[in-house]
Amino acid sequence: MTDLISLTNVNKYYGDYHALRNIDLTIKTGEFFSLLGPSGCGKTTLLRTIAGFEGVSEGVVMIGGKNMAGVPANMRPTNMVFQSYAIFPHLTVAENVAFGLRKNKQMDKLQKSEAVDQALEMVGLKGFGDRQAHALSGGQRQRVALARALILKPKVLLLDEPLSALDKKMREQMQVELMRLQRHVGITFILVTHDQEEALVMSDRIAVMFDGEIGQMDDPETLYRRPNSRRVAEFIGKMNFLDADVKSVSDQITVDVAGLGTCTVNAEQAPSGIDTGKAAVGIRPETLAILFDGEKTERETIAGVVDEVVYYGDMTYYDVRIAGVDNTLNIAMKNLIGRPVLDVGAQTTVVWDARSLVLLP
Ligand SMILES: Nc1ncnc2c1ncn2[C@@H]1O[C@H](COP(=O)(O)OP(=O)(O)OP(=O)(O)O)[C@@H](O)[C@H]1O
Ligand SMILES: [Mg+2]
Repeated sequence: MTDLISLTNVNKYYGDYHALRNIDLTIKTGEFFSLLGPSGCGKTTLLRTIAGFEGVSEGVVMIGGKNMAGVPANMRPTNMVFQSYAIFPHLTVAENVAFGLRKNKQMDKLQKSEAVDQALEMVGLKGFGDRQAHALSGGQRQRVALARALILKPKVLLLDEPLSALDKKMREQMQVELMRLQRHVGITFILVTHDQEEALVMSDRIAVMFDGEIGQMDDPETLYRRPNSRRVAEFIGKMNFLDADVKSVSDQITVDVAGLGTCTVNAEQAPSGIDTGKAAVGIRPETLAILFDGEKTERETIAGVVDEVVYYGDMTYYDVRIAGVDNTLNIAMKNLIGRPVLDVGAQTTVVWDARSLVLLP
């Protein structure tokens, strides 16, 4: 894959407010790239600077090897999809999709109508062309908005929280459909979302943003398994934190962990440049376990007391108190056949493994 988009040292000020801080990123042709972060961190602003709806205060935006300084949005090879409300309710589905082609002089009526049919088929709305747009479900409207963007055959499709108006089931269905569509058409997608699960499911790579800055940029698995800071670890999935004291650093790192004692971890379990001294250790709930009666383990164990039980049907999340730690440990357990759901106050054995610890500065 070749670089399609590159941002170099991009800064954006609104008056005194520093909305984007030293953004450096490259996005490859055909990549599914997501911008993830809490409300107000600058995701939409960053997307708008790529689209050309917003100029940059400093830095360079390149698309397809061309500097975009002074290039207006309608002259860029990008197209933006907003939330479902952006379609025209008084037009038919086909008229909505054809809207972007209205100024196209190269295509005749027949070609345009064929292009509309093709775009509708791509988004699973074949045969819906004559339907009034107001007579569609939220998910169908979202597909119309997508078809309207796809018909222009942009090199880059910019999607700003396109699924946030949909209910959970529909959102999950659309996530899978969007992924399939992206692979099928080979267009580069940049998705803005504040939903970490959505970003993990859909993206080739994710940039996690806080306060106008990129905190970490990686593929989903690396982000989840090897967050480089506490705030990234906290934002993506659930994470337990324990106080830690790093004793020595080489290929292996020796660290005293509150409640667990002295542990040895591999260097790859820590961000590069970690030093001796105070740190934190992160442990994902699903890498801890409760040892139920009759189960055996080769791994490390520690005694605990159940403090809270949250039952999800397929899973139960336990908060378990262990000696020497103020906060409880959250533990995710599958409700396998024969496993009881424990009560608050139950004495338990917690299973842990040094390989799942993540050292954080
Ligand atoms: N035109 C503007 N003038 C002044 N401040 C702005 C302007 N547009 C955005 N901001 C500010 O810049 C910051 C980033 O806004 P942005 O819309 O990019 O956030 P976001 O990450 O998309 O948030 P959300 O998830 O809520 O949509 C916010 O604090 C916002 O108030
Ligand atoms: Mg936004």
